[in-house]
Amino acid sequence: MKGLSPVVCSVFMLLLSVNSQPIFAQEQAATTIEQKVELLLAKMTLQEKIGQTNLRGRSSRAKGPLPDNLKATVRDGNVGAFLNVMKPEERDELQRIAVEESRLGIPLLFGRDVIHGFKTIFPIPLGLAASWDPEQAKTAARVSAVEASEYGVNWTFAPMMDIARDPRWGRIAESFGEDTLMAERFAVAMVKGFQTDDLSAPTAMAATAKHLVGYGAAEGGRDYNTTLIPQNELRDVYLPPFKAAADAGVASMMTSFNDINGVPATGNRFILKDILRDEWHYTGMVVSDWNSVTEMIAHGYAADKKQAAQRAANAGLDMEMTSDAYEQHLAELIEQGQVDQQQLDDMVRHILTMKFRLNLFEHPGRYQNIRSSILSAEHKQQARQAAIDSAILLKNQQALPFDTNTSIALIGPLADAGHEQMGTWVFDGRGENSITVKQAMQATLGADKVHFASGLTYSRMKTTEGFTAAINAAKQADKIVFVGGEESILSGEAHSRASLRLPGAQEQLITELAKLDKPLILVVMAGRPINLLPIIDKVDAVLFNFHPGTMGGPAITDLLTGVVSPSGRLPVTWPKAGAQAPIYYNHRNTGRPASDENFVAIDDIPVQAWQSSLGNNSHYLDLGFRPAFPFGYGLTYSRFSYSNIQLSSPTMTRDGSIAVSADIQNIGSRQAAEVVQLYVRDKVADVVRPIRELKDWQKITLKPGESQRVSFTLTPAQLAFYNQQMQQVTEAGEFDVWIAPDAAGGLHASFSLTEQH
Ligand code: NOJ
Repeated sequence: MKGLSPVVCSVFMLLLSVNSQPIFAQEQAATTIEQKVELLLAKMTLQEKIGQTNLRGRSSRAKGPLPDNLKATVRDGNVGAFLNVMKPEERDELQRIAVEESRLGIPLLFGRDVIHGFKTIFPIPLGLAASWDPEQAKTAARVSAVEASEYGVNWTFAPMMDIARDPRWGRIAESFGEDTLMAERFAVAMVKGFQTDDLSAPTAMAATAKHLVGYGAAEGGRDYNTTLIPQNELRDVYLPPFKAAADAGVASMMTSFNDINGVPATGNRFILKDILRDEWHYTGMVVSDWNSVTEMIAHGYAADKKQAAQRAANAGLDMEMTSDAYEQHLAELIEQGQVDQQQLDDMVRHILTMKFRLNLFEHPGRYQNIRSSILSAEHKQQARQAAIDSAILLKNQQALPFDTNTSIALIGPLADAGHEQMGTWVFDGRGENSITVKQAMQATLGADKVHFASGLTYSRMKTTEGFTAAINAAKQADKIVFVGGEESILSGEAHSRASLRLPGAQEQLITELAKLDKPLILVVMAGRPINLLPIIDKVDAVLFNFHPGTMGGPAITDLLTGVVSPSGRLPVTWPKAGAQAPIYYNHRNTGRPASDENFVAIDDIPVQAWQSSLGNNSHYLDLGFRPAFPFGYGLTYSRFSYSNIQLSSPTMTRDGSIAVSADIQNIGSRQAAEVVQLYVRDKVADVVRPIRELKDWQKITLKPGESQRVSFTLTPAQLAFYNQQMQQVTEAGEFDVWIAPDAAGGLHASFSLTEQH
């Protein structure tokens, strides 16, 4: 039994002790999932095992009855799971065949991309992160699972926890932003929301931690692109959210499309075995991304399908999504000794374990056809709250809030665009169920006070024929609200952009409206940070919303009219232009750090200047080095002061901790929420550490004049990093610490970590 895990060994003993008994006696004796899996595995043929590794796609728009050959495949035990079977009668029929007509009656998994809502759509994940409140993400996931499970979906391909440092990358929309700690906390919250504490519960849905790993580091922000990630960066920055999800019991993980330092993730034994299984002891299931097994041929990592199957299986990939390399070649590879039988058994173990955890053997159709919760008032209220808490006020020169007696000219391509406000990765939500800004504002202010003319009917529109009507509408109103941004399809998978500017003629229309000299409020809905430099000086306020979902209209109206103050903060550094990307607050210093004192702007250089590097630091001559807005930034309708930072001790011992605290006071005239952020810098280390790293945060709400002492506990474990020998270490020495409203400011103190215990 050399090489077998203790669990497998004990199950093996159970099998030995009972294998002379009738089968029902063995099954009665099997009480744990491990035992049940081993008993079932022992009965399976090679073909049935390979069948379990097969995840079949089906278009949700497929017409006509289920093809006979598909039914036969299920009957023969050649499919383990489906994705995108959304017609209830098809799903029921396939599950019935699997359970009643296949030899072993193994139920199917039904997967779907339920990313930020099913029918009730919440803000996109980047928006949920902007709330800095993981509970919002947990609620979004719970509502998603309740609704989707009513349609028989028992497995979602979410949450995505890729670190995204490049806003050109379309999938930044689906991420929790650039910070590892935030990704960890939001990922865990969503896993708990989808799965609950008991995956066998009727509305629990298996979650998927994706994409393992490094997908967000795509060179140039172009989707699917190659990534070069040093191992310590991989371990310090990209892997921790997956580890946190694994520790939280996430049922599955999905490999990414990209290669990491030349080895595609789907065939990456170092990631899938050495780290995932040997270091983390993860026992869940690992699925490929769509065709990512056979895409290893295009990568140049496999000569053909057979080698792709061999590479993936030997790396430890359990289930293949949509391509059929396993189905076609695994049997042959095992016969030829190129893939070990034991390897296949492990793969099937992981898959069966997930099915048992979901209680599918007892209740294969446990969720179906209830439909009571879809778009319920409660779900819509939760989506509205999430959208409120996710909006970020980037600028406000006394233009907001406005009272409900104000007459408003409502302009812009996203003011009345139910589909576009939902954002990327929406398969099941419908635009007609969204409440737009126009609808919500008319309901709140009265239709007679809202003068609507979109000016542009969609975000990319370049023609100006609607401008006159928009300008006429603006002339009739006290204030102008322009709702623009990006359509849903301009971010998300395969939708990267080189320019971050507002698409189409939006800047031009804003420029025309600004000439009217009326308060001009810009509301943006987009899937990524937008370069607002060309127009930000022309507007009086900017309320930014990562696509806010079904209830975006009422949420934005609540914020504009001051029912509640904006409380979102940036989960990403906001560049001045796409050319600054990748850009992130927790970068390392160069030997020539950029600074205001040393900054040389392009126009400061004399003509025919002598060759010189003097004054040249790590900046652009024409764009400087600062972002437009720092990570963590966001305004409210109030103001906060930070004072009196204190440490419980100037030194931290190896097994001790220190408390870092400061007074935060609301010095404005309205109740508002502040996100108080704790940052640390390790000043000297074996590997250069980031100039700041987020270590904790608290979102607090204060009344006008109210003050609160906010305290954080810091421990040595939070200071750990991977050194040159790839050991996770905490080095004694000096540390900076800040309690701050964003990654650029705050109160500073320092402490030292000693060798003493
Ligand atoms: C490809 C995407 O990368 C992945 O995130 C998604 O879950 C699958 N397609 C399935 O739709």
